[in-house]
Amino acid sequence: MKLILENNVFANIYADIAVRFVDKTMLETQLDHALLERFGFKGESEESCLLLERGVLYCGVEDFGSDALRQAATTAIRALWKLKIERIKFEGFGLEGIAALVEGVVLGGYRFERYKSEKSECAIREVVFASASRDGALQPYDVMKARFEAARIVAEATNYTRDLVNATPEEVYPEALAQAARALSERNDLTCRVLDEAALESEKMMAILAVGRASRHQPRLIHVAYVPKNPKKVITLVGKGLTYDSGGLSLKPAANMVTMKMDKAGACAVLGILKAVSELGLEIEVHGFIGAAENMVGSNSYKPDDVLRARSGKTIEVRNTDAEGRLVLADVLDYAQSLISADYLFDYATLTGACVVALGPYTSGVMGHSERLKASALQAAEQSGELAGVLPFNRHLKKLIKSEIADVCNVSSKPYGGAITAGLFLDHFIREEMKEKWLHFDIAGSAYTEGAWDCNSYGATGAGVRLSLALIQAL
Ligand code: BES
Ligand code: ZN
Ligand code: ZN
Repeated sequence: MKLILENNVFANIYADIAVRFVDKTMLETQLDHALLERFGFKGESEESCLLLERGVLYCGVEDFGSDALRQAATTAIRALWKLKIERIKFEGFGLEGIAALVEGVVLGGYRFERYKSEKSECAIREVVFASASRDGALQPYDVMKARFEAARIVAEATNYTRDLVNATPEEVYPEALAQAARALSERNDLTCRVLDEAALESEKMMAILAVGRASRHQPRLIHVAYVPKNPKKVITLVGKGLTYDSGGLSLKPAANMVTMKMDKAGACAVLGILKAVSELGLEIEVHGFIGAAENMVGSNSYKPDDVLRARSGKTIEVRNTDAEGRLVLADVLDYAQSLISADYLFDYATLTGACVVALGPYTSGVMGHSERLKASALQAAEQSGELAGVLPFNRHLKKLIKSEIADVCNVSSKPYGGAITAGLFLDHFIREEMKEKWLHFDIAGSAYTEGAWDCNSYGATGAGVRLSLALIQAL
């Protein structure tokens, strides 16, 4: 499917189907008003009405803001998916609207069909966007084109992340994730270094090693970097890459274990961000560090009651082997900080079920010490079409992860506030000089869905990719 921005007014663009967005107030003035009424079309969000002979698809919109445009473009591409038509066109909604339309088409049109014997072929070859607004106002084409291209890159990077997350744990195990990182690095001119088990041992990363110990697949630490000529800033990204989380000896109940292939979503988001950053050619140096491991059960499993010495030297009392992500991140965060002195440090992790309880299944949790940085993250979410909410640290919750026998405990002594206590655990591994530069994104709810919402279909959403690209470019 080719996306084309045409420097033209809508009426003068050739297409098999013209997509038109209408809200409730505009229904009466439509040429096809009588037909639409007969079909019971009301112009509501997520509603569409195809008048094939007329060559028009009507889609309802709540308003003409980005969120509504993205939703309507999603509705449109899904409605037209199975038709035998080759070329469709969208009206222009100015400089502010173009990204939302592209996202709606690219993200809303995403389907993961790798494991289906019969793929649902889409006949649409060309999707044309009018650069002129629908009132006929011409837009500066080069500005429009730049936004169009950037949106396409970001949306495709999001789909890249989705593909990787959706792959089965049989296919994507730690070394396979490393292989994906190498392949991306090759294609996009990034540097890539992978630490194997022996290297992790010489780095004294006993936390990630313990988590991955019972798996037939050894853990890996993956470092991918985009280093442009004259970078204005240096940013470090850290991702949780649990290619499967069975819970370990603190085994998950059967119903909670399904979907845990998505416990690598933080790592995959980091790779997606690097893909986009390099294709956008940003003047920012970006380092991605991924802790890849498989949390399994075996005679050599790590155990509740173990005490692990992390790379930083801190000791961790393990009371639940299912709180493994924070253990992996403890080592990777420390390694990343020792290697790169960055202006910002962001980590991404499907870290806690508690985050889903706190914010619901669509919203990423944002944690950190810098009010300014957290506010920037929320603004980036708003701008990019992702949902995010701040979960506030406090000193009382900090006490709940104290350990009687080690420096810190991997679970809280109380059952509430689990997303925050997990964030506070990570805080133990953030160096003093990085405290104000650090953000933690808990994407446990937002990274994966078993029902379509917004421009997301069943499976991985690519949470964190769009948000972070908006954030990185705003800093
Ligand atoms: N990967 C899970 C968190 C998770 C849960 C992600 C649901 C996505 C959806 C994580 O490793 C985990 O199991 N966390 C435990 C922590 C608890 C043992 C303190 C949890 O949330 O129950
Ligand atoms: Zn777990
Ligand atoms: Zn996990």
